[in-house]
Amino acid sequence: MRVLLSESQIAARLDELGHELSAAYRGRPLTVVGVLTGSLLFVADLMRKLDVPHQVGFLQASSYRTGTKAGTLSVNREYFPEITDRDVMLIDDIFDTGCTLSTLLELLQAARPRSLRTAVLLWKEGTQKVALQPDYFGFKIPNEFVVGYGLDHNQDYRHLPHIAVLEASDLA
Ligand code: IMP
Ligand code: MG
Repeated sequence: MRVLLSESQIAARLDELGHELSAAYRGRPLTVVGVLTGSLLFVADLMRKLDVPHQVGFLQASSYRTGTKAGTLSVNREYFPEITDRDVMLIDDIFDTGCTLSTLLELLQAARPRSLRTAVLLWKEGTQKVALQPDYFGFKIPNEFVVGYGLDHNQDYRHLPHIAVLEASDLA
């Protein structure tokens, strides 16, 4: 598999994002809401780069994806935190069509947070089907299927410390 973003490139970018977010949320009641399972590593690493106090919770969203094609979204709210009157940062691994993030934003908005913003590690270029844009992102990437650092293909490869492009020849 071809490495697209190395472990050290990801770490360096997270340092920058950590500074940016810490400045933006200083003195505010921040709650980070991660979208499971893909954002697990991103959230865990980003939390340690935030030098402002914050709470964390998770939503699980599965898109009944078969292989590399998206499907309908199912949301599990069992670990959803109390966010009313809090400043919320919704965090996902990748912004592709944008359907996941826009559906989850509506759901979070219904809980009446004080503010609501989004951060994604990866932003795929040219694949969006919604008008929404993430407020913060780690890297813009070309329209290729990627795995690692939380991202999977049929639940595999999430453990990789870097992000790699999964090509048809890798699946053969
Ligand atoms: P969206 O709703 O199309 O924006 O898709 C977002 C979700 O699709 C992400 O949370 C990922 O779980 C998944 N996804 C989209 N592109 C990729 C990819 O290249 N690799 C792995 N998962 C992806
Ligand atoms: Mg996901």
